[in-house]
Amino acid sequence: MNTLRIRRPDDWHLHLRDGAVLSGVIGDTTRHFARAIIMPNLVPPVVTTADARSYRERIMAAVPAGDRFEPLMTLYLTEHTDPDDVEEGKTSGLITAVKLYPAGATTNSHGGVRDLDKAMPVLERMAKIGLPLCVHGEVTTPEVDIFDREAVFIDEKLDVIRRRLPELKITMEHVTTKDGIDYILGADRNLAGSITTHHLIINRNAILVGGIRPHYYCLPVAKREHHRQALRKAATSGDKRFFLGTDSAPHVDPLKECACGCAGIYTSINTMSCLAHVFEEEGALERLEAFTSLNGPAWYGLPANEETIVLEKRAEPITFPEKIDTDAGAITVFDPMFPLTWAVR
Ligand code: NCD
Ligand code: ZN
Repeated sequence: MNTLRIRRPDDWHLHLRDGAVLSGVIGDTTRHFARAIIMPNLVPPVVTTADARSYRERIMAAVPAGDRFEPLMTLYLTEHTDPDDVEEGKTSGLITAVKLYPAGATTNSHGGVRDLDKAMPVLERMAKIGLPLCVHGEVTTPEVDIFDREAVFIDEKLDVIRRRLPELKITMEHVTTKDGIDYILGADRNLAGSITTHHLIINRNAILVGGIRPHYYCLPVAKREHHRQALRKAATSGDKRFFLGTDSAPHVDPLKECACGCAGIYTSINTMSCLAHVFEEEGALERLEAFTSLNGPAWYGLPANEETIVLEKRAEPITFPEKIDTDAGAITVFDPMFPLTWAVR
């Protein structure tokens, strides 16, 4: 198979930032993707429907002329989030999901939730009105090893929320472990998982072997090889519960290449090429469309895109820039460490 036509993909987990970074990166998403769930972890975060409305306007103003793009807005859940405001956001059609960051779990998450009990009134309302919760599934307790944080979160937090609110629809975002995959597979309903491009390609060696490589550092951190294999199996299975959320997370190089570098990998520009490569390796090209373009909209109750894109396998490797330039500085592009031959026509 040398060409593949699929419905235009969507990205169910994306960081666009604001200001000069937003303007510098958004074209890499809108070139291929019709919609994206926009993460609310700005500084300060997007906590109210009014914040989300003005952020959406800034995003729309940055969309390159000629591109059509629909940002699906989220609210950053805090212990003070007002259930009425959340409901207003959903009813007005602005808000697609609410995002739970355990406090301190990742970039710009210090305002996240410490005590889940305090967020229960909002979660109860969301269950009632059918608004999904997107979860960054890692505990932040210092005693828990960083490579175990996802598995412990499932046992100690996610399972508790699901028992208390079985009607709440939960997306476990950027699943990185076999534990996460198995937990989703074992749930009878109201649970799905997004998977990133990079977690299908790298394991933890990429970060640490032969020197410390900050451009492969993200959160949740890449795990052992058998976890990567489990993610590949799930993503390429066609199972409706798994879909793409790139978690493309731009940081300018000085913030990555320093003594305490930020977490985040920038993949928007080459994600479709990387994914076609992965799906071809797994003998599953015919299921790429389910992962990038069908399962996500079905989960979020939205129609699949009518437009299509065509992927073509080239005889010679295609190249992407090593870095993109923005008015805020250079941002390094994810290097999959193998030649890419699939191009979006
Ligand atoms: C994200 C960021 O930079 O905002 N970083 C990352 O490594 N993925 C935050 C997140 O999604 O965890
Ligand atoms: Zn993210």
